[in-house]
Amino acid sequence: MSKISKPIIVGNWKATPKDLKTAITFVKALDSKLTKNKIKKNYLLAVPDIYINSLSEITKHGLIGAENLTGKEEGQTTGLNTPSMLTSVGASFIILGHSEVRKRGETNESIKEKLVITLSKNIKTILCVGEEKRDTSTDYLKFVEEELKECLDLSKKEDFKNLIIAYEPVWAIGGSSPATTSECFEMVIAIRRTLVEIIGIDNAKKVSILYGGTVTKENAKDFIIDASVDGLLIGRASQNVDDFYSIIKSCI
Ligand code: PGA
Repeated sequence: MSKISKPIIVGNWKATPKDLKTAITFVKALDSKLTKNKIKKNYLLAVPDIYINSLSEITKHGLIGAENLTGKEEGQTTGLNTPSMLTSVGASFIILGHSEVRKRGETNESIKEKLVITLSKNIKTILCVGEEKRDTSTDYLKFVEEELKECLDLSKKEDFKNLIIAYEPVWAIGGSSPATTSECFEMVIAIRRTLVEIIGIDNAKKVSILYGGTVTKENAKDFIIDASVDGLLIGRASQNVDDFYSIIKSCI
């Protein structure tokens, strides 16, 4: 996998676009804008599994990844794709624990099982964490701390070199109000502190922390500068070529 440009810009296409032809047109248009404007930076794009092969073959600036996977190796799991299936068709990274997947029944325990496999197979893995609501006490900090501790209760600390954390407050996803940069900064510090506890300071320093939740072309750079994140995880704005391009450009 080519080296990931910093800040790390990750799109999450979710269940879009409507067909492969549209997906290919999007990636070609985005890549040609980047080439034309001499922007060398790469982007990560998590897409429906069915598009991974075609997009990873045509993209010039992107690293194509998966939005989830089964925690099982090959076997009797109808309808699910394993890590080796996904990487064999061109997936360069995997997102785990997205709140929309958690809503369908994913737990910290099942995320942990998946993480054991992806990290041990050297697959770059973006683990999403985030509280459902903000309270006036500090319960939201404890909530995220617990998510991290339960998901990252792994024995082999050296596997963490492929770990990226995405802080995605659930209340900010898919809406119109992102977290403020100071709310985000507070959580970045709390996450880093928890990572130090779990994997030690040397490993913790190497983990990139992203922010996601109503990132737009207008606010993207503020998170990088004012909230000290290492990158962004972008839903809706990554589903529009011009908006996604503007975000990549603003974060060079
Ligand atoms: P949004 O989604 O940018 O549309 O809020 C973010 C996400 O779901 O990762």
